[in-house]
Amino acid sequence: MWDYSDKVIDHYRNPRNVGKIDNADAIGEAGSLACGDSLKIYLKIKDGIVTDAKFQTFGCGSAVASSSILTEMIIGKTIDEVKKITNKDIADQLGGLPPEKMHCSVMGYEALEDALKNYDDYTDLDDIRNEEEANKQREKIVCTCFGITENVIWDAIKINGLKTVEEITNYTKAGGACGKCKGLIQDIINTYYKKEGQEKTEPTLTPAQKILKINNVIEKQISPELMKDGGDITLVDIDGNKVLVKLRGKCSGCKNSHLTLKAFVEKTLRDAVDENIEVVEVE
Ligand code: FES
Repeated sequence: MWDYSDKVIDHYRNPRNVGKIDNADAIGEAGSLACGDSLKIYLKIKDGIVTDAKFQTFGCGSAVASSSILTEMIIGKTIDEVKKITNKDIADQLGGLPPEKMHCSVMGYEALEDALKNYDDYTDLDDIRNEEEANKQREKIVCTCFGITENVIWDAIKINGLKTVEEITNYTKAGGACGKCKGLIQDIINTYYKKEGQEKTEPTLTPAQKILKINNVIEKQISPELMKDGGDITLVDIDGNKVLVKLRGKCSGCKNSHLTLKAFVEKTLRDAVDENIEVVEVE
């Protein structure tokens, strides 16, 4: 059981500003339903000040609490003030979050960042039309087996720096049944990296994206492997490339590859996220 502050519990039980703003001036998204957590934030902005903010989220109590307090933090603030808010500010306002739940504050930060970026970008009408067209395109179902849209795949790539079809399948399930959509998924990956001007082999992750990706790899790849033999992993903290974890038991991957438990975790994170990651085991 996580140790939550009174403020987290209060905002989870009585979330503020839940809902949608029609004719919002800026909308931002983070996470994806396929990954288990998703947040959409709506902003009304007048004369450079956020006059209203609402959110819709799908996720755990910490995600609801982070989104709720974030809306309270930004209403009445100028755009410049809002741009300075970080995920740490969100967690601090909540009286702290368990390390394993910090990704919820990151998701709030990412959705806000996305909304502000869209607000900055939406000043040119041609851009708006182009973006609307692009969004319509991305609502198309790519994987009919699992009903996964291009938008979900696009967000998964963007947030987690995914590079391969196999990674997309791990994060969104798309491509995990008949496999007919794998060509389309590859096209989306190619388009994303061409658009972003990033090297496909070395996408640059922001610190927030990196934390989200480490969380996802631990939850979806490492933890299930350890649990096969009754093992367990708890993420304690992430400090740059240092990932602090508590480990228990053993894992099939370790037996097969003759790796120690810590080495198995480190190798998996290095392969999936960053080759410079160092895993530190804590008591
Ligand atoms: S269409 Fe995607 S797995 Fe079948």
